[in-house]
Amino acid sequence: MSVICIFLLFVSLVVGEQLDEPSRINGGQSVNETVPYQVSMQIFRRGRWQHFCGGSIVSSQHVLTAAHCVEKMRVEDISVVTGTLNWKTGGLRHKVVGKHVHPQYSMSPRIINDIALVKVTPAFRLHRGDIGTIHLGNSDRIGEKVPVRLTGWGSTTSTSASAVLPDRLQVLNYRTISNEDCKQKGFRVTGNEICALAVHGKGACMGDSGGPLIKPGLQPQLVGIVSYGSATCAQGHPDVYTRVSSFLPYISKVINQDLP
Ligand SMILES: *[C@@H]1O[C@H](CO)[C@@H](O)[C@H](O)[C@H]1NC(C)=O
Repeated sequence: MSVICIFLLFVSLVVGEQLDEPSRINGGQSVNETVPYQVSMQIFRRGRWQHFCGGSIVSSQHVLTAAHCVEKMRVEDISVVTGTLNWKTGGLRHKVVGKHVHPQYSMSPRIINDIALVKVTPAFRLHRGDIGTIHLGNSDRIGEKVPVRLTGWGSTTSTSASAVLPDRLQVLNYRTISNEDCKQKGFRVTGNEICALAVHGKGACMGDSGGPLIKPGLQPQLVGIVSYGSATCAQGHPDVYTRVSSFLPYISKVINQDLP
């Protein structure tokens, strides 16, 4: 059984026996064109804004992210940055005015329903070419061996004592595996998660949490939200994502009823 670790920066919450050191998207490439739906979620610490999780724009005022990213955060302490490849500079900053964590989110005995939405103000500048929503697709389940794409500012090392985030957004193209395969590789996933696996040296890491896994194409579709993986990143273990297609009613309820 792998030691399970959520990919949240700072809060090294480990569901297992021991904690290893943080790492990033390992083995990815720098992104050269803006990813319109990608946001950096930031917290004000020691006099400056610090990236802690990723997220995806799903409406003019909502970001989809992981529950573990925002569960313990006060909305007044966090903000959302859009329209930039570099989380430290450029882009537009939005105040967070509300969060909605899935009511059945749980960390124990396994991580389930790791999904949340945050509401921002002012509304996103969706008319700008470098800022836009991502399609959620329909309720069809994504199968195995499907090419998918992860983007994030998570740590780029798997062993350093303190995570060093890349300034520039990173991308990793890899493939889904079946949930059965994911279970055999040590993760107690349910039908509401989806796993992806790359070769040793490539994978999600600390700071990638909450960020998007998409199925690329003419109309890219959001299929996963970075949830957890092994405590040492990119060591040939799968990355586990919240399966977006399982939560479409929840997402539209929060957006349309405009909660909170
Ligand atoms: C972006 O450009 C850099 C430098 O030319 C290159 O190394 C990298 O592979 C490019 N990224 C992608 C995703 O093509």
